[in-house]
Amino acid sequence: MTEGIDMTRIPEHIAIIMDGNGRWATERNKPRSYGHQAGVDTVRRITSECVRLGVKYLTLYTFSTENWSRPSDEIAALMGLVLTSLEDEIFMKNNVRFRVIGDIARLPQEVQNKLHETEEHTAKNSAMTMVVALSYSARWEITKAMREIIAEHQLDSSSFIQPEMITEDVISRHLQTNFMPDPDLLIRTGGELRISNYLLWQIAYSELYFCDTYWPDFDELDLHKAIGSFQQRQRRFGKTEKQIENENK
Ligand code: IPE
Ligand code: IPE
Ligand code: MG
Repeated sequence: MTEGIDMTRIPEHIAIIMDGNGRWATERNKPRSYGHQAGVDTVRRITSECVRLGVKYLTLYTFSTENWSRPSDEIAALMGLVLTSLEDEIFMKNNVRFRVIGDIARLPQEVQNKLHETEEHTAKNSAMTMVVALSYSARWEITKAMREIIAEHQLDSSSFIQPEMITEDVISRHLQTNFMPDPDLLIRTGGELRISNYLLWQIAYSELYFCDTYWPDFDELDLHKAIGSFQQRQRRFGKTEKQIENENK
């Protein structure tokens, strides 16, 4: 089952752009929402498999800021799915902590309540943290972080913010993802070769993996292939191959 992957070098954080639900459904002459429903089943399967492999953080791009421009019936179907698919039982069974990132205030109140409830109920689970990015975009996140940094300094009107107060660390701490490490591996399904405003700051050194498989068809084996590809790469972070080899001795 896990042939071909090194269980001692599993990426700690995997981020996924789950794309292709609509095309998957259209190919079957079904409404797009049918594809989103099928996508939820994939989320379940991939979440359990990540827990089994020992992944610590799984960050799933579920609905982007730009997705608010979709037809209203598709948005409603997606919101409905968020509501019905957040079952405590599944998180408890897998010992998974649930977290949400994004501009949650834009979501229907009922959905917001469900999200917060699920976060609370699962807060003590420790096998893996599953993060769902909802109404999220990286530019929104970075803009919000900048505003917060400035606003915090203005609380005390005697202290103006100094340029050197803005450091990479300060910015990271004001991002939605401040409770987790950056992704080691970013997977995009569905064949498109773009990032679509996802985790732009955090993927500075992530390994990227693109596959044509539509999200509803993405299975454990596809996940293993992505992890296998990740494990064949040498992450150099600007250094030379030799330096990295010496460090690993
Ligand atoms: C990804 O699938 C899920 C969401 C963006 C909500 P799409 O709905 O983008 O599917 P395609 O790209 O149209 O096939
Ligand atoms: C990106 O998918 C967002 C999610 C997967 C939630 P899209 O399908 O909306 O991305 P673009 O618009 O094709 O780049
Ligand atoms: Mg798409």
